[in-house]
Amino acid sequence: MRDLPLDGRRIVLGVSGSIAAYKAAEIVSRLVQGGAEVHVVLTSHAREFIGAATFRGLTGNPVLTDVFDEPYDGRMAHISLAQGADLFLVAPATANLLAKMANGIADDVLTTMLLATDAPVIAAPAMNTVMFDHPATVANLSTLRQRGVEIVEPAEGRLACGSDGKGRLADPDAIVAAVHARIRRSCDLTGLRFLISAGAGSEPIDPVRLITNRSSGRMGVALARAAARRGGAVVLVAGHRSVEPPPGVEVVRFDTTASYRAACLERFPACDVFIGAAAPADFTPVTVSQTKIRRDSSGADLMIPLRSNPDVIAELAAQKDSRLVVGFAAESEDLRTRALEKLRAKGLDLIVANDITAEDAGFDVPTNRVVLVWPDGRHEDLPLMTKDELAHQILDRILGMTGLASRTPSPA
Ligand code: CTP
Repeated sequence: MRDLPLDGRRIVLGVSGSIAAYKAAEIVSRLVQGGAEVHVVLTSHAREFIGAATFRGLTGNPVLTDVFDEPYDGRMAHISLAQGADLFLVAPATANLLAKMANGIADDVLTTMLLATDAPVIAAPAMNTVMFDHPATVANLSTLRQRGVEIVEPAEGRLACGSDGKGRLADPDAIVAAVHARIRRSCDLTGLRFLISAGAGSEPIDPVRLITNRSSGRMGVALARAAARRGGAVVLVAGHRSVEPPPGVEVVRFDTTASYRAACLERFPACDVFIGAAAPADFTPVTVSQTKIRRDSSGADLMIPLRSNPDVIAELAAQKDSRLVVGFAAESEDLRTRALEKLRAKGLDLIVANDITAEDAGFDVPTNRVVLVWPDGRHEDLPLMTKDELAHQILDRILGMTGLASRTPSPA
């Protein structure tokens, strides 16, 4: 028997109360044909539109409708399924369900499971155009996207209420394709070892003062999370004030560029891909005062001589052999040209350049807008997206560069 692309994958499908609920049956059927083990969860309003028997028949599994349903594997069914899922799909997702998801409300079995899962979530909204355009829905979708929920955009067309506009549930083909793409991503980095850096460096001036920068570590942490989710083995070298590292990743902390360099050099031989998203300090005080530097009573300026720190990524790239070395470039002008110069000067395989003067990109914001630049001068402008999504896009390009991209089966 030939391998199916969703073989061995457990997908939970949540159906909420929209007239489009009947289309969930087509989606389930396609997922089951693709080899997936599908478990359906219905809200009470969904059951007004379609019965549990349809889904039980299509999946061969019991359908969850209540938190007090019979246990699975000796555990509460909803918790057991939420935690064992490879992917959580919500289709159709009503405005009300999206609002509950965005606010962490868990007042029925579906919303409780959505809070209890750490599987990737895809939601396919369906509603009337006015509801879709309502500022509350727009804000809820934006919150969910920022949290990494993938939204399959609704289509334009004739709506159940008789009007025309955007809000129809996306075509089942598009929803099933999004599931395949996400599942492919869930294991396509298996066997690759990543060394990823994140966050700001800091250099002490005296026992209380530091030289540091505004990097929050979000981009590097997003890369580490995404690489681990996709099956990669990840070591994260993280600045002390970086955002929380993701689970399933080995963390090594750094502060000074000297400690960053030591951690990277030690781990580099055992990696296949190095991604330098950290912002180690470029300069360090020539001497560190052992006592707190006192303010001069005359109000005279304080001069602190700074010495240049080594360029760690350039040093790693010089000994890379078959490893890939990917860097970041924070620029405030001539983005593409400067990035290409930086990439060539440091001997990198790819550079991710962002304009740090843009409000929605760069330091300490959840979104980024970057240009990817390769050594031959080829470049790709990516649109504004969350750092989580950008992490996946960067990993997709890296995977293509390793020549391992064709290892996993495509959808039938
Ligand atoms: N980098 C590094 N070691 C340093 C400084 C930077 O490894 N001492 C790495 C960063 O992790 C990033 C890349 O170099 O991947 C570019 O960082 P950036 O701050 O944009 O460039 P710099 O080389 O510091 O140049 P400049 O600040 O002059 O733009």
